[in-house]
Amino acid sequence: MTTDPLIAAAIEARLRAFTPYSHFNVGAALETEDGTIVPGCNVESASYGLTMCAERVAVFTGVTRGFHCFKRVAIVADTTTLTPPCGACRQILWEFAPDAEVVLANLSGKVERFTMRELLPRGFDAKQLAEPGPGI
Ligand code: THU
Repeated sequence: MTTDPLIAAAIEARLRAFTPYSHFNVGAALETEDGTIVPGCNVESASYGLTMCAERVAVFTGVTRGFHCFKRVAIVADTTTLTPPCGACRQILWEFAPDAEVVLANLSGKVERFTMRELLPRGFDAKQLAEPGPGI
């Protein structure tokens, strides 16, 4: 169906989504600078607010494996209008993949590409924390 191994990895990760409450399955995959692919799926909790999105699972898995910078992100859900990353995921992706291409795809082969900068203009990150102010 897809020739892009990153999309294929997100499709495969989606199969492991744990979604007994929403039944909305999402798969994500990150590509590191050395070509390693790191997958993630959404994991829901009976305490609903503790649910973790596929994208953040992928980022945190990548960090656990020692990767801090990702150059591409694929996100797959079974929706006609492609599913974009939620606001919380945009923030986390911004911090670890500011220059990344974000590839949205569904199971029918529809694909759209964005940049992280398009999805999160004027993102907040460590630069602000490091900037000295005049003090109070
Ligand atoms: N979800 C993701 O995994 N990624 C997103 O960017 C949007 C939402 C998940 C969270 C929850 O398990 C389900 O989709 C419904 O919100």
